[in-house]
Amino acid sequence: MQKPQPFSLPENLLLGAATAATQIEGGDKNNSWYEWCEKGHIKDGSTTLRANDHWSRYREDIELMADLGLQCYRLGVEWSRIEPEEGSFDESAIGHYREELKLLRENGIVPLITLHHFTNPLWFEKAGAFESKDCVKQFLRFVRFTVERLCDLCGEWITINEPNVYGTLGFVFGEWPPGKKSLSAAMRVFKNLALCHIQSYKLIHEIYGERGIEEPKVSFANHLRVFEPMRKRNVFDRMGASALSYMFQDALTKSMFTGALNFPVGLGSPLGRGRFCDFIAINYYTRDAVKGFENGTFPDVLKNDLGWEIYPEGLAELMREQYEQYKLPVWITENGTCDKKDAFRARFIYDHLKAAVGTGLPLERFYHWTFLDNFEWLDGESAPFGIVACDFETQKRTVKQSGEFYREIIKNRGVTEKMIDKYL
Ligand code: BGC
Repeated sequence: MQKPQPFSLPENLLLGAATAATQIEGGDKNNSWYEWCEKGHIKDGSTTLRANDHWSRYREDIELMADLGLQCYRLGVEWSRIEPEEGSFDESAIGHYREELKLLRENGIVPLITLHHFTNPLWFEKAGAFESKDCVKQFLRFVRFTVERLCDLCGEWITINEPNVYGTLGFVFGEWPPGKKSLSAAMRVFKNLALCHIQSYKLIHEIYGERGIEEPKVSFANHLRVFEPMRKRNVFDRMGASALSYMFQDALTKSMFTGALNFPVGLGSPLGRGRFCDFIAINYYTRDAVKGFENGTFPDVLKNDLGWEIYPEGLAELMREQYEQYKLPVWITENGTCDKKDAFRARFIYDHLKAAVGTGLPLERFYHWTFLDNFEWLDGESAPFGIVACDFETQKRTVKQSGEFYREIIKNRGVTEKMIDKYL
């Protein structure tokens, strides 16, 4: 490993952290992931009901964010709280998010809202969720209500988080709700997610336009991985890597950005062609090594506690590739790692941030995943990704060393020699 060198952040780059409603709020039983937990799918037996109790503790958490100097914060809203029954909206839930947004703004933290981050209200899940023909209409009704109520407090939106992960884990591998293993169902879901995104993009812009509010910035958070052949010269591995990349991310990315649906997402341009993203939003974690059509990990590489390769160059590669195609500002909407001992997180942050900055591309946001250790889907409370630790029993928050490092990066607008000696 090379000795780290100091570097500075570009002027326009804001540094912050990201979370998702279901992973931190606690207290909601009305969503598909709580039901999935109750069916016994979570490795450590925990559920989303406890999480970080952020619903009650958001004031304390925002104070901590401000204390860390975060400049921006990506938060989710829980659809099942806002629309607990089909067509009936809960003003008090929206009121809660309004309070949260006001507090963020008072603390000088720029909010970015995610409308859909993996979980569905139970009524929607039971009605077939994103497989059903009504889903676009249903999703848009929720989007309209939420955006109309919050548009005066937030100008930045993610419509859907990681549609490829949602569709693949829920409908191809059956590991996430609704637990299906059906390629045809997955194809319907991918198409509907693309349509939901494009329609939401148009609707959000329309709402701001009608109200004469400054143009919003809207995109979807795209989970991108680097796929490489396990054996560089092996023709099957090379074909496998291209095919997996196409099936997992490339086809959907193109469809959602341009409206021209690519097989297997769909055909034609049912909603017209255009550009349906205002920035390139990348969630990046790792690289896959592909053997035949199976994805795995290269041997003898650095890995995190979940066995995911730590490959910072991949972030730069993907940024360049996406920028080349879409020529829009880049926002890293998630990047982080599972590190139980907080032993290599500071270095992870350093390497990824430096790689991203080093591209020289117009990088405007960098959201560390995540603010505090939270409910990590199938791994429950046992896979900490936070720069702040959370004792789930007592709900006590403690800033980790990596959190102190992040605070100093923000304060010093980069990494200095002194910080390298202290943290890396
Ligand atoms: C998801 C997060 C998740 C993180 C780490 C991302 O794919 O958007 O919700 O916690 O990965 O697994």
